[in-house]
Amino acid sequence: MNTEIESQLRVTPLIALVQADDARTAVRISQALVAGGVSVIEVLLRTDAALDCLAAVVEKVPDAMAGAGTVLSAAQAEAALAAGARFVVSPGLDEAVVDVARKAETPVYPGVATAGELQRAHNLGLETVKFFPASIAGGIPAIKALSSVFRTMRFIPTGGVSASNLADFLAPPAVFACGGSWMTPAEPIWRGDFSAIENLARQALEIAQKSRQR
Ligand code: 3PG
Repeated sequence: MNTEIESQLRVTPLIALVQADDARTAVRISQALVAGGVSVIEVLLRTDAALDCLAAVVEKVPDAMAGAGTVLSAAQAEAALAAGARFVVSPGLDEAVVDVARKAETPVYPGVATAGELQRAHNLGLETVKFFPASIAGGIPAIKALSSVFRTMRFIPTGGVSASNLADFLAPPAVFACGGSWMTPAEPIWRGDFSAIENLARQALEIAQKSRQR
């Protein structure tokens, strides 16, 4: 699937995770990320206000490409699409979630951590998966080993990615993009210091651009 999200991830291989308790905060975090150059934003369905947060980011941050993360069920996938999600991410592989997204012609990135899960994803016709939790599930050596078998699969490592290991995670050719919460830490958000988020996004973008030029 060649979508606008995937075109953007080819240029900026970063997915920033946003978790907020209210829509206003989600919007401010997203504006800061976009100002820092990171526009693919995954709003996590982990708070009561998550769908409101997603809808608000879609409406009020038009330069963001907002999707939904932590999508655990088909019902949540439907709700996320109704809120305007432009992509769907799950921590694990659930065919019902994949089906909902595909019927809506929306990119879906289910999480895999093992060869068995990857084989199921491959046999569902998926070309890109989240690799989660990346640092615990074997990190870069695991991605290299899995991609030597699943030669066309592209990975989005997420879980334990940070500014200090981002360049290494982006290095294997099978890595399509990296996702994570390191650009959106809770502490500056509590303080209302959204410039810190912007700086973290800018730093991640610089690392990613250097890594991709190597
Ligand atoms: C996720 O939802 O993908 C993970 O919580 C991301 O893990 P991280 O917080 O280590 O980036």
